[in-house]
This record gives sequence, C-alpha cells and structure tokens, in this order.
Amino acid sequence: MTIHMNLGADSYDIIVERGVLEKASAHLNLDRRVLVVTDSGVPAEYAKALAAQCREGIICTVDEGEASKSLNVFGKLLDVMLDRGFSRKDCVVAVGGGVVGDLSGFAASAYMRGIDFYNIPTTLLSQIDSSIGGKTAINFGGVKNIVGAFYQPKKVLIDPELLKTLPARQISNGLAEAVKMSLTSDAGLFDIFENTDIESHLDEIIIRSLNIKKNVVEQDEKEAGLRKILNFGHTVGHGIESAMPALYHGECVALGMLPMCGETIRPRVLAVLKKCGLCRELQYDWEKITDAAFHDKKADGDTVTVITVNEIGTFGMNTMKCLDVIELAKAVL
Ligand SMILES: NC(=O)c1ccc[n+]([C@@H]2O[C@H](COP(=O)([O-])OP(=O)(O)OC[C@H]3O[C@@H](n4cnc5c(N)ncnc54)[C@H](O)[C@@H]3O)[C@@H](O)[C@H]2O)c1
Ligand SMILES: [Zn+2]
Repeated sequence: MTIHMNLGADSYDIIVERGVLEKASAHLNLDRRVLVVTDSGVPAEYAKALAAQCREGIICTVDEGEASKSLNVFGKLLDVMLDRGFSRKDCVVAVGGGVVGDLSGFAASAYMRGIDFYNIPTTLLSQIDSSIGGKTAINFGGVKNIVGAFYQPKKVLIDPELLKTLPARQISNGLAEAVKMSLTSDAGLFDIFENTDIESHLDEIIIRSLNIKKNVVEQDEKEAGLRKILNFGHTVGHGIESAMPALYHGECVALGMLPMCGETIRPRVLAVLKKCGLCRELQYDWEKITDAAFHDKKADGDTVTVITVNEIGTFGMNTMKCLDVIELAKAVL
C-alpha cells in the first residue's frame, strides 16, 4: 500500500507493508553513506537489517527516551557525519520511534543545510503520526520541541511487523492518537475501534490514520489552521502530562479528549478508550494541571481555542475561557 503525500516539490511516498524493512533498498537509495539512527530501546536487529542493505551504513545508537532530543545528542550525530566525511549526497535514516525520528530528521535538515532523510518508524505512535508531516525538533531550555525545522522526509517505510516487540502500553499510547483522528475526521475508523478486535485491525488503523493526517498536512503544511485539529484533546492533555510525568503522552491525550466530547457521544468514547487500554482512575492535581495547560495565560481571565467533537467524525472550534475548560475537565474526569 502506497500513500502519496502531495506537497509540491517536497512530495513523497509512504509505503505501508509488512516486511518492508527487509526490502528497504528496493524503495530507498542506500547506495551511499547512510547514517542509521536508532535508540537503545529499539531491538538492535532493526537498524542492523537496514545497515546491511547500505553501501556504507553507520549505525548510531542514542539512549532511549526523550532526553536524547537534546542539543548535545544532536551535535553527536553531526559529529559522526562530519568524521565520516558525509557529503550533500549522503543521507540519514531513522529506525525508531518519535524520539529518533524528530532528532535525526532535525540533524538531516541541518547538516550541509539539508541532506536526504528517510524515516522507518518502529512505534505505533510514530507509524500513524510523527513520521509524516515533516515536523522535526529537539528540546531546549526545558521546553519541548522548541528548536527544530519543517523538513519533509524523502520516503517513509512503515512495517507493522516491527510492532510485535513493542510493549502493550506503547501500543495503547499510539492508539490514543488514532482514536483522536477518528473522532474529528473518520467515523468509519471509530467504528473499527468500537466494534472489532483492535489487534487484528492494526494495519487498517494505521492506514486510515495516515490518510487523515496526510489530508490535514496537505491542506495545512505549516500549521496555519486545519492542522490544529491534530491538537484535539491536547490542551487539557498537555496539562495532565506536565502534572503527571509518569503517564504517557497518549494516555494524557485520551483523558484530555473526554471533556471536549459532547455528552451524547462521551460514554461511547470512554468505552473505546478503555478498550484501548487507556483511561484509569486517577487523582488529579488541578492547580498543577491548570498552570501547565495555560502556562502563558492567566487561567481566570484569558480564553483559549479548543477543538470539540459533538458528533463522531466531525469537529468544531470553540473559544472558551481557560477557567471553563478546567471546570469542564474537573466535572468529566
Ligand atoms: N514530529 C511530530 O509530528 C510528532 C508528533 C507526535 C509526537 N512526536 C514526538 O515523538 C516522541 C514520542 O514518540 P514515541 O511515542 O514513538 O516514543 P519513543 O520514540 O520514545 O519510543 C518509545 C519507546 O519504545 C521503544 N521502542 C521503539 N520501537 C520499538 C519496538 N519496535 N519494539 C520495542 N521497543 C521499541 C523506544 O526505545 C522507547 O523506549 C516525542 O518526543 C514527541 O515529541 C513528534
Ligand atoms: Zn499528541
């Protein structure tokens, strides 16, 4: 299955196929120097399988975790490329989740003002979301994704087979973003979550989610408008994420979506989130959550624009008082 991302001169194909990692050289130009970036939590055989298909594959394994999206590790990737004599004609391949993709995509965008970048995402979240769209970044000064670039990959290879080693909690984490996309944009995808066995429909869930994100990105590559729908659930979600660092991003987004759903659909959404292994009983520190969700605003007076869903597969944009958003979240969660 090939999905074409139409972005003028920056267009590229996304190939979704079980076993495609082993056949990567049929899709990517690997007849050159290739920096294969992975992390210590990704099974090493994935990066090795890719490097084995390169004329000169250099594997660079960074520590797993968000802390690797740093200036220091970014510099290390540039060091390796410089040491190995990388030219403008060489390339970078990410073999990992969103951390590896964001970090190495940014390194590719900066080295010699930009060399080819391919992404082979290995988490569900990166397969359905972060590997397409061209956002690359590192964290800086304690702020997430504050330094980066819009830099589109030359190709994305999605091999759902690689998810067999991914822990169940990471699968749930990725499913949260897919449920999010179904709620704003695809009632048929929501139906899959609601009425079928999710595990046996993963490939279809990936493809449908990619198609939603593709449509959004094609219409709004640089996040001027429509791309904001991808932030559904993220206002309250980000607040919860900062206040409760033990939770995963998707778990927080799942919670953040509930208050933004209309009352008539909320029980169905809750049931789907539970089915996905998301949502648990939690103790919330609302003061912390409010501070984090609206860190640049006075929560009592200022307003925020949030995405709401009253009917599955559609969305609205509402400007609400920050305080009312929190009151709603308190009432629902
Ligand atoms: N660029 C974008 O548009 C975009 C969108 C959403 C999120 N992000 C970024 O993505 C990052 C989160 O990505 P993530 O959720 O993929 O997390 P991650 O990259 O940290 O991966 C999660 C964990 O799974 C491990 N892992 C990866 N693949 C595996 C596999 N196949 N089998 C076993 N273990 C595996 C990793 O080592 C890691 O420990 C964040 O930094 C976030 O900012 C970017
Ligand atoms: Zn998200």
